[in-house]
Amino acid sequence: MFRKSIRGLQNCSNLVLNFTRNIQLNVSETKSALLSEVAVAPSHSYSDNKVTIVGVGQVGMAVTFSILAQGISHDVVLLDSEKNKLRGEMLDLQHGSLFLKNPKINASTDYAATAGSRLCIVTAGARQREGESRLDLVQRNVNIFKHMIPNLVKYSPNTILLIVSNPVDILTYVAWKLSGLPKNRVIGSGTNLDSSRFRFLMSQRLGIAPGSCHGWIIGEHGDSSVAVWSGVNIAGVRIRDINPVVGTREDLEKWEEVHRNVVDSAYQVIKLKGYTNWAIGLSSASLAHSILKNSFNIHAASVDVKGYHGITDDVFLSLPVVLGENGLSQVVVQRLSDLEMLQLQRSASCIQDVQSNLKL
Ligand SMILES: NC(=O)c1ccc[n+]([C@@H]2O[C@H](COP(=O)([O-])OP(=O)(O)OC[C@H]3O[C@@H](n4cnc5c(N)ncnc54)[C@H](O)[C@@H]3O)[C@@H](O)[C@H]2O)c1
Repeated sequence: MFRKSIRGLQNCSNLVLNFTRNIQLNVSETKSALLSEVAVAPSHSYSDNKVTIVGVGQVGMAVTFSILAQGISHDVVLLDSEKNKLRGEMLDLQHGSLFLKNPKINASTDYAATAGSRLCIVTAGARQREGESRLDLVQRNVNIFKHMIPNLVKYSPNTILLIVSNPVDILTYVAWKLSGLPKNRVIGSGTNLDSSRFRFLMSQRLGIAPGSCHGWIIGEHGDSSVAVWSGVNIAGVRIRDINPVVGTREDLEKWEEVHRNVVDSAYQVIKLKGYTNWAIGLSSASLAHSILKNSFNIHAASVDVKGYHGITDDVFLSLPVVLGENGLSQVVVQRLSDLEMLQLQRSASCIQDVQSNLKL
């Protein structure tokens, strides 16, 4: 009886032990019991479309979401100085992996995590306050760039830098100077967004999809941008051939208002919701797509315009450019009217004035 109960206790303790052993089976034991290895999966230390997004604010997250949702990259690294926010954004995105293409989503405050990025998108920095011009932001963001840009290049010497932080044209110049990279690998998001706003507003007037309204905003992303009215067309029909004064003060249809609305767009949205993010997110993702997929699409993006349209200084402004895996490959030389060229040159000298006072 006594023996029986001892045996019973031993059986019982064996059961307990077995149970404990079972729950102590570590994950890799479960994995190897479940999955029979055929070939070792390649390490994920290198991927051909790794993208770093610096700054997980409103813009950085809209850019990241657009890139992931469109499958432009399956390997993104987020970097920010705010540890908790950074981790929160990473987890929130990772929890959506099921609905994406199982991307690799990492985040770190350490630049080492960005190593081997093909593209680094910089959205970090102070944002415009209500009523503040993009140019007023400049020195605040230059100071941030002094630390950020050399670190990005240190870990990804072959990267392409895509600058989004404002004032984007000047900061693209600053990034080029601080990075030591060739000009073709430092690009600003520029007026890709302004051109999209322009085409949307045109589409509203004409009742035609934005993709079928052809027009370019070039020059500064901001107050002195230039609408190339001489080339605005629908299916090759130039609006100027129908309305010779389109875009000028004499125009009774006031098409110039479309451009004025483009310039006011950011101020309007910032006044209403405090920041802009969705359109710049989509716009930056379209630039990332052209670069990572080597698509040779043409975008209005900020590049060094020295030597074009009579500009003699190293300033970054938007012109239509061809983008691919080496960044900038060609600049489209538009046939600008005298007025458009003059406006572009004024924009360049305004930027050059600000640049000459920067403490790099
Ligand atoms: N080019 C465009 O068309 C365009 C459009 C909209 C906004 N922007 C610009 O984008 C920038 C970001 O705007 P936002 O609304 O996302 O601002 P935000 O304040 O929401 O986010 C900025 C992020 O940058 C981070 N940051 C600041 N300093 C940093 C540093 N040294 N290192 C790492 N991270 C740092 C902050 O922690 C924050 O998460 C602004 O400069 C804004 O003007 C550009």
